[in-house]
Amino acid sequence: MVTGGVAAYKAAYLSRLLIEAGEEVRVAMTVEAHNFIGPTTFASITGNPVVTDLFESDLTSPHTDLGRWADAVIVAPATAATLARLAHGLSEEVASATLLATQAPVLVAPAMHTEMWEHPATKRNLEVLQRDGVTVVGPGEGALAGGDQGIGRMAEPEEIVAALEKMLAGPLTGLRVLVTAGGTREAIDPVRFIGNRSSGKMGHAIADVAAHLGAEVTLVTTTDRPAHRQVDVIRVESAQEMADAVEKIESDVVVMAAAVADFRPADPAIKKLRRTDGPPQIELEPTPDILSSVMARENRPFVVGFAAETEGIDRAIEKAKRKGTDLTVANEVTEAGAGFAHDTNRVSLIHADGGVEHWPLVAKVEVAERLWNVIAEKRGR
Ligand SMILES: Cc1cc2nc3c(=O)[nH]c(=O)nc-3n(C[C@H](O)[C@H](O)[C@H](O)COP(=O)(O)O)c2cc1C
Repeated sequence: MVTGGVAAYKAAYLSRLLIEAGEEVRVAMTVEAHNFIGPTTFASITGNPVVTDLFESDLTSPHTDLGRWADAVIVAPATAATLARLAHGLSEEVASATLLATQAPVLVAPAMHTEMWEHPATKRNLEVLQRDGVTVVGPGEGALAGGDQGIGRMAEPEEIVAALEKMLAGPLTGLRVLVTAGGTREAIDPVRFIGNRSSGKMGHAIADVAAHLGAEVTLVTTTDRPAHRQVDVIRVESAQEMADAVEKIESDVVVMAAAVADFRPADPAIKKLRRTDGPPQIELEPTPDILSSVMARENRPFVVGFAAETEGIDRAIEKAKRKGTDLTVANEVTEAGAGFAHDTNRVSLIHADGGVEHWPLVAKVEVAERLWNVIAEKRGR
């Protein structure tokens, strides 16, 4: 949001910095802001049309559309008048209406003459906004418009970007996470494979939630499901391809939710097998043990294994002990509403010391959220 103060010229540079940081930026301007800068500047920098009027816009409902679209709203510069409107929930033009219509976190960068900044009304409004959870950056001290000096100068755009990053940082910010997902396919011939029933839903939910919480996520998946836009996706098919991809990735936490084949055809046919040739004898050989090679790394990450079981949890407990994983998520895949392809899952969490937590049947996204809570706690976050 750009409002009507002299520092509006700095909002153009702020937009440029945000674009360079990889953000998508949309600008709305108050009517008064047009006295200081033109919408063409912002449209050219951001590549998006600028919203300048609540009732004359290409959007049917600009304030709610923008408010729902945004992950964060920055008001820079924030005039005394706009701060007053925001503090009182007034919404008579596009900027203040958007601020009232959004549930995204809001950051304001006030800019005004010292007298306006120090006025009790402005102070009161700022207190209200901070109580409402608004982040305030600046103002700084220095040269003001008209040759004046003092407090009231808008924070520098670099400072605003840094404050935005801090405001949006999640509990997993800075954590490098690798997630595997989906079932592998092991070629019998160019058209047939040995596969399994894994849908990849659980692993994708784990990757998406980690990204949402601020982690740097790489997802090695066999499915073509979409992923959170911040997730770096590597698509693979076989256990070998998954092992090769995993080997190249350095990470702090590895969550192995993929259902990896234990065996593959030792000698897949180069040409399609023919029915007329009769039933083939397919010799199998073991696939690479991805979990064990991650566990054997010199500087090994925190490792979460998955165990799909059909005969109760005892085998999963045994597997957790044998593999030495930090956590093991066990699920009974034959239970109604749990395991492969469902949107819900009932899992048990096996800790390294053998302790077991039984979680209720919940959405896979909730399983992912609970899992990251446990991991974050264990990692001291
Ligand atoms: C030359 C000039 C500069 C101004 N600079 C500021 C300013 O830096 N900060 C501020 O709060 N108001 C400033 N104002 C007053 C605002 O433009 C005025 O309060 C306006 O109604 C703000 O509207 P808006 O918040 O809807 O953009 C300035 C006015 C003029 C004429």
